[in-house]
Amino acid sequence: MPRHTSRSLPIQRGHAVAEDLFAAAPKPEPHSLTELNEEMAAAGPMVEGGKRAVFGEGPIGAALALVGEQPGDQEDLQGHPFVGPAGQLLDRAMAAAGIDRSRSYVTNAVKHFKFQQRGKRRIHEKPTMGEVKHYRWWLFKELEFVHPKLVVALGGTAAYALSGKSVTIGKSRGPAEFGEFHGFITVHPSAMLRMRDHDEREAAFLDFVRDLKGARKLAAQSH
Ligand code: URA
Repeated sequence: MPRHTSRSLPIQRGHAVAEDLFAAAPKPEPHSLTELNEEMAAAGPMVEGGKRAVFGEGPIGAALALVGEQPGDQEDLQGHPFVGPAGQLLDRAMAAAGIDRSRSYVTNAVKHFKFQQRGKRRIHEKPTMGEVKHYRWWLFKELEFVHPKLVVALGGTAAYALSGKSVTIGKSRGPAEFGEFHGFITVHPSAMLRMRDHDEREAAFLDFVRDLKGARKLAAQSH
């Protein structure tokens, strides 16, 4: 049984914000990803916001698993990870890196959309470290079921969730170890969406593609 421990941040099963009367009772371990997802949806959001748990998607045994921060507005509405603007950029970068998204597993560290309502708009809110910690148990269980060769952390929240440590992307970008998973840390695609300067954005995109190519090669080499 893989042991995904971190001295600084233990992995424990999170609780819903509103605990039920039986929350203290030991829960049986889920036997499949479907069971895990059903349990997670029933557990409810551990952040203020989206009502729907957006599950990871992709085949069991995918060589690459990519982990983002949390579903955004479109992901919450459509019920799929990385289908909004950041997802479209991720699709482009994966294609440029020679990675078939349909053969990869794509998920998020936090499974619900955390936002603030401003008029009609739902504004993305970054999850706190405590909230990310609540979802860690679910994330690692999910990855155990998928059993990828390499896990790619897209941005700081995913890197924190996977490594258990605060990570500066600029310094930690590249190969990493996440518990017993081989990993790779790179930027989150939304970082590029925020860049106003065209040349800067293009250069950042090429660096992102280079990272994804590196991750693909590492996954191909690992057993
Ligand atoms: N950003 C993420 O981190 N995940 C998504 O699914 C969409 C946007």
